[in-house]
Amino acid sequence: MREWTREERYRVLHDPQELWEMHEEVSRSDFRQSFHIQPITGLLNDPNGFVWHDNKWHLFYQWCPWGAVHGLKYWYHIVSTDLITWKNCGVCIMPDRDYDNKGAYSGSAMPIGDSLYLYYTGNHRDEDWTRRSYTCLAKLRDDGWTEKYPLPLFGPSPYYTEHQRDPKIVYVKETNLYYIILGAQTKDKWGRAIVYKSEDLLHGWNFAGELTVPGFEQFGDMWECPSVERIGGKDVLIFCPQHLKIQGRGESDNHNGYILGQMDWETLTFTPDGQFHVLDFGFDSYAAECANNVQDENKAVLVAWMGLPDVSYPTDEENWAGCLTLPRELTVRGRRLIQQPLPGLKQLRDTEISLAGHTSGDIVKLPRVSEIELYCRPDDLELDLFTREDGTGGIHISYQKDSHEITVDRSGMTNRFNTAHGESRTRILEDGLSHLRIFIDRSSVEIFVNDGDAVFTSRVFPVDGEDHFVLHGDSFIRMWTLKAAVKDTLVV
Ligand code: FRU
Repeated sequence: MREWTREERYRVLHDPQELWEMHEEVSRSDFRQSFHIQPITGLLNDPNGFVWHDNKWHLFYQWCPWGAVHGLKYWYHIVSTDLITWKNCGVCIMPDRDYDNKGAYSGSAMPIGDSLYLYYTGNHRDEDWTRRSYTCLAKLRDDGWTEKYPLPLFGPSPYYTEHQRDPKIVYVKETNLYYIILGAQTKDKWGRAIVYKSEDLLHGWNFAGELTVPGFEQFGDMWECPSVERIGGKDVLIFCPQHLKIQGRGESDNHNGYILGQMDWETLTFTPDGQFHVLDFGFDSYAAECANNVQDENKAVLVAWMGLPDVSYPTDEENWAGCLTLPRELTVRGRRLIQQPLPGLKQLRDTEISLAGHTSGDIVKLPRVSEIELYCRPDDLELDLFTREDGTGGIHISYQKDSHEITVDRSGMTNRFNTAHGESRTRILEDGLSHLRIFIDRSSVEIFVNDGDAVFTSRVFPVDGEDHFVLHGDSFIRMWTLKAAVKDTLVV
């Protein structure tokens, strides 16, 4: 693995021409995605500023241009009208001020009039590498012009450690105030969300207090990317508690999850209705960001980084890493969040591959970019994806009807990565298994179980010959090749 010096990691992007060569190399990779958002070069991590504005969806990602390393971060801008096909727009926020000299870190967006206000963390470091986080504002006008506010809205609170970041901007009708929720760490190293408020988006921001979440006072040592969303009359606290072990999730210690409950903005109390649930039962998913569904307040759209902090991926060698998950439709059903593939994804279905004549146990060719749909009978089932021609290896999906357990095990792949966090994940399905929809891109697989009841997301890097699948069990299966939806164009 390449060792990066601090100078290399924090190298400023002066001359975009330099990226051309790197982009050419990157775009030749066998693992470039065809319907997922991915970085033009270098590393992508969190999605930021996801919002509908000016008749399109805007999304930004944390971007480190020079390679697969967490170094100097920029906001890179992409747009879509349908959440399926995306267009690269170029760099949007550059870390070019003293207050953000070591990175324009994660944040969110608020559309007002013909501008989009972008709230982000200015990651500042002194000469002696002491870190101070500032909450900063930039305005993206509809004519494409970005303007930064000369001063940050506010600096770090003295009551918490240096870990304070990821502003989520919210307007609350009941109090007629704007709030910024930040992830933070107490001095005795517990994760928190802290809140600032103002009557005005641009001025007068004051520390309002800590978000009280009874029962979650000692739950991870830092909460990254916290947000409070209102979906179908329910409040949802979504966040990433760090350095926490969760039963059934191997040695993994960075999670993205949620708690349903009620938010009281007057007292800054989030009263949980139940426990913490992970958003994704698979492997590679973090820093999810929600956008309101502009037509239906019972729904939101969620997108996440298909990756994890502190993990190396096989494409690191190729100078790029990370991609985003498919945007998913989010609703509340009972005491859970449900994530479903967006209806528009069906437009990507290209050729239906006939599976007529195949029976259980047959080894079938798996197109590299495809969707599989299965209606399952209430019985045991095994599905191996990316097997070799002889049916061995691959990702093993198994369902046991007696225990209602569905397991996804990726240890059979030739390219194994992040094995220390465990290579298999299990979830119990209360109502048994009835339906699977699986989206396969060139280096990822997303498995939607029972119409969004659970999702297993995983990066996967098949080598030549890992291009078959085998189904054992009695179910009705259909398969399509999918059209491309993201263009690998270099726009800086
Ligand atoms: C989460 C995170 C955020 C931070 C950003 C930096 O993955 O660590 O807390 O703002 O990434 O890229």
